[in-house]
Amino acid sequence: MARIVGGIATSHVPAIGNAIAKGLQQDPYWQPFFDGYRPAHEWIAAEKPDAVVVLYNDHGLNFFLDQMPTFAVGAARQYLNADEGWGLPVQEPYKGDPDLSWHIIEQVMAEEFDLTTCQEMKVDHGFVNPMTLLWPGSKHAIPTVPISFNTVQHPLPTPKRCYRFGQAIGRAIESYDKDMKVMILGTGGLSHQLDGERAGFINKSFDLMCLDKLVSDPEALTRYTVHDLVEQAGTQGVELLMWIAMRGALTGQVSKVCSNYHIPISNTAAGLLVLDNKPASQRKAA
Ligand code: DHB
Ligand code: FE
Repeated sequence: MARIVGGIATSHVPAIGNAIAKGLQQDPYWQPFFDGYRPAHEWIAAEKPDAVVVLYNDHGLNFFLDQMPTFAVGAARQYLNADEGWGLPVQEPYKGDPDLSWHIIEQVMAEEFDLTTCQEMKVDHGFVNPMTLLWPGSKHAIPTVPISFNTVQHPLPTPKRCYRFGQAIGRAIESYDKDMKVMILGTGGLSHQLDGERAGFINKSFDLMCLDKLVSDPEALTRYTVHDLVEQAGTQGVELLMWIAMRGALTGQVSKVCSNYHIPISNTAAGLLVLDNKPASQRKAA
């Protein structure tokens, strides 16, 4: 059976892609940010996932305000990237795993989540930048299942709904009849607001509280409404929804591998959280 080895959540700010393209990882502005990913690379190298399910939000590349699915699951052999207008180099296509996609779709639909299924889906910086950050040099080798959340056109799915959706995704993966290791990736956040009167808004104490609760008490975050999240984390900080869903998908014994928090990257409080997930039977002695 498939096994979920763990989950990673990371910010996906477009400027990260430009910094990588220009080789600025050791530049003083970027170094504390990029250095935070080293333990994540070591964890990935040790766990060797065979596929990654990417929970992200599309920002207008594949879906726009006129047609905005709440949850859209990719079920394609490959996913194209395209120019979004941020000046990022267009990436080679990413590999899909359509069998795993359809298994997740069938199981999650059976749990009464009504999904949009996409046999063609372009992936934007919300997908591409975290893949590049976590698999520098080999990001196109690992098969992916992209799952896009609506964090743009209100009404958005609630934190509770996203957590439950993540749990359903986790159960679906663990019922997949193939010996493989799956990693969950949640992208976006942490606090940021790109426009309006509060442009530049960052809420460090709220972010640090979330980083803590995501490890030990994720249900606590499901008590917030979407409007609470907007107030506490900023209009784009609602991307925290994918971090909450990632945590929901971890069905076993969860422990923190590492985290990083760095203010600011562009307009965003940049965060990273790596969580290991062991089946209950392999629980380490406390
Ligand atoms: C920025 C952050 C985002 O999450 C995004 O999608 C676009 C821009 C930023 O901080 O520049
Ligand atoms: Fe974003």
